[in-house]
Amino acid sequence: MALTEQNFQQFVGLLQQALTEQQLQKLVLSKYQGTETELQRLEITPVLLKGIWQLKFLYQYKTNHITKNLLAEPAGQAILNLLQSDFKQANLQSTGHSCQLSQSKKGKYLLNCQTIAVASKDQQQTAVITHNRQKQRYVEQSRPFLTALGVTDQQQQLIPAMSNKWKQINKFIEILAGAVKDTGLAERKQLHVADFGSGKAYLTFAMHDYFNHTLNLPVIVTGVELRQHLVDLCNNTAQALDLTGIQFEQGDVKHFKARGINVMVALHACDTATDYALDMGIRTGAEIIMCSPCCHKQIRPQVQLPQVLAPMLQHGIHLGQEAEMLTDSLRALLLEAHGYDTKVFEFISLEHTSKNKMILATKRHKAKDNSAVLRQIQSLKQFYGITEHCLEQLLETSAAG
Ligand SMILES: C[S@@+](CC[C@H](N)C(=O)[O-])C[C@H]1O[C@@H](n2cnc3c(N)ncnc32)[C@H](O)[C@@H]1O
Repeated sequence: MALTEQNFQQFVGLLQQALTEQQLQKLVLSKYQGTETELQRLEITPVLLKGIWQLKFLYQYKTNHITKNLLAEPAGQAILNLLQSDFKQANLQSTGHSCQLSQSKKGKYLLNCQTIAVASKDQQQTAVITHNRQKQRYVEQSRPFLTALGVTDQQQQLIPAMSNKWKQINKFIEILAGAVKDTGLAERKQLHVADFGSGKAYLTFAMHDYFNHTLNLPVIVTGVELRQHLVDLCNNTAQALDLTGIQFEQGDVKHFKARGINVMVALHACDTATDYALDMGIRTGAEIIMCSPCCHKQIRPQVQLPQVLAPMLQHGIHLGQEAEMLTDSLRALLLEAHGYDTKVFEFISLEHTSKNKMILATKRHKAKDNSAVLRQIQSLKQFYGITEHCLEQLLETSAAG
């Protein structure tokens, strides 16, 4: 066998071994000379889907990317075909090897391989855990909306400055996915999601992508935002991505008229805007309510220091924290009283606010006696001397009307 053929066969052998032993880390095919004018390279990486080791083929074009997932065997065959036809260079990284196969203009194969010291069992275990952790992302990094919003670049690589935002998007979708499971919303034919105070809409687009792409569930997502320029920006982005079922409207959550909301989201909507959003969620019977409160102004001036707490709350910062906790505890209890199971927990903070609390409420399937919760609300208000809580008043008005 000629040396050039030996080089090709040796590379194919290493590739097959990396695929069958699930040791492939990355394969990049480049120097494309086929008929697709815009195609530049193909990146192949392992991915765990529903517990099955598969290969993600990321076809990178000048202006967009296309992803396909294949099982190891058909993936091996597809790679072999591509190597023999359109791509003139292949770079393979596996647990044991780093190899480059390139084809000269005369059609000869050159092979340059380095053996990598195989990691100890412990290191391999760590790598598998890390690998699995990476694969547990709820949003695929290759999704086009991430590039449009500047979270990833044109090659769909994470922009380092956006790594916190990327973590936040994933955490948010993870929480949403759990709530969707608890409420059985995935069984519906169509959903309506409202995001109040949508801002630059990272999470609004992420929700649309989650329902549409991940769950394959038709959805209408409405972002409501006070600032017109953000509304225009987000509508233009949706149009550029050719998305349907997502729209942004200029408006104040306080005056917004909504019906039939299944998922109500209000993240960092200022002060009592959160109460208006919660009231709307409850009134429209939303199955999922997610809010991250911001700037708690209403309760603090009302707090009358219980004598025993006075030495602690004489410090402004403590009083602020107490008022915030009280405001959100009352919100959580009011949700409980109106038929929701409610959790309050830490969420990943945004770059523009240190607020990192989330109130997650999922509608109960069965009604529950709420008299004990109503008594708890009154006791708390009495203890702190609170006479007005925006959400409580809105709910009373809704009940009366
Ligand atoms: C801190 S940003 C958060 C953006 C987005 N929800 C997020 O978490 O990434 C809050 C947004 O809410 C908007 N906002 C504040 N009060 C509002 C109200 N009453 N009605 C509608 N939007 C409001 C602000 O203009 C701002 O863009």
